[in-house]
Amino acid sequence: MIVGFGALNLDKIYKVDKIPGRDEEGFVKSLEMHPGGSAANTIVGLARLGIKTGFIGKIGGDEEGRILLSNFEEEGVDTSAIIKSEGRSGTAMIFVDDEGHRAILVDPGVNDTIRFEEINLEAVEKARLIHLTSFICKNGIESFESQKKIAKTTKAEISFDPGMIYIEKGLKELEIIINNSAIFLPNRNEMESLMNLDFRDAAREIISMGCKVVAIKMGEKGCYVTDGKEEHEIQAFPSKAVDTTGAGDAFNAGFLYGYVKGFRLKDCGKLGNWIASKNIQKVGARTGLPQEEELREFWELR
Ligand SMILES: Nc1ncnc2c1ncn2[C@@H]1O[C@H](COP(=O)(O)OP(=O)(O)OP(=O)(O)O)[C@@H](O)[C@H]1O
Ligand SMILES: [Mg+2]
Repeated sequence: MIVGFGALNLDKIYKVDKIPGRDEEGFVKSLEMHPGGSAANTIVGLARLGIKTGFIGKIGGDEEGRILLSNFEEEGVDTSAIIKSEGRSGTAMIFVDDEGHRAILVDPGVNDTIRFEEINLEAVEKARLIHLTSFICKNGIESFESQKKIAKTTKAEISFDPGMIYIEKGLKELEIIINNSAIFLPNRNEMESLMNLDFRDAAREIISMGCKVVAIKMGEKGCYVTDGKEEHEIQAFPSKAVDTTGAGDAFNAGFLYGYVKGFRLKDCGKLGNWIASKNIQKVGARTGLPQEEELREFWELR
């Protein structure tokens, strides 16, 4: 089983007649809701590929929490480590006007408040891999501290996509997680700002800290993967990008699928690129995530 551990959000996309400024009024034309969160997107990607999955996260006792929970159930993700608490679930209110301009308000809600003692360790013990992504850390650092403790104590392997929020904490703060990770999954910009080095040298440094594999996402250029012995720059699949939201999360799903199935490093990177290329052809962070049967197409392409 692969278990995700990161923020859970319900994205509420409001189409509005205008984005109001201070003391102004605007009107909502429509509302769409999409479950999100980086680790959650990756876990749903893996579930669609037929991998047994679970999730460690926290929701509030509100309608948003019920939507997040039932969405995982629909996708076949084990929810026995989802903590239900008082308070608000994480949401992002996204206002989009007719010209496509956006204004976003993020409410971390209860996301940042996960204490280690609250985590259902029985569910965690079933994991062979635990995938960590960032918490916003606006309402506290308890969830981040719990991730460090999980990374230190679990016998499962760890994969870690820090995102810009964690990169900004600096290397010292992330060291314990990186030291205990098997797989590090930043994008190029994050990698270079964390290490203050060119991405190849930065990857070498991360490997010397004890990480087994580094996969760096490079947008339309594809990815760079290394385990310290081999290194590959793998071109992206040419595709018409309609919406790149969740491209990195989709890449992670493909890469981790390959990793747990024992693919060669290069094929893990290729599959990451392929799942991401599928995902960016559809609007939404999860809409284009393929089902297991569609992997046939990937094998035929190669
Ligand atoms: N224009 C594109 N054409 C083809 N593939 C793409 C394109 N943009 C992104 N990808 C694929 O998506 C992967 C992840 O994208 P990116 O490098 O932007 O990650 P990221 O910055 O972590 O994304 P996110 O904003 O989702 O966190 C890339 O490694 C590549 O495989
Ligand atoms: Mg990313």
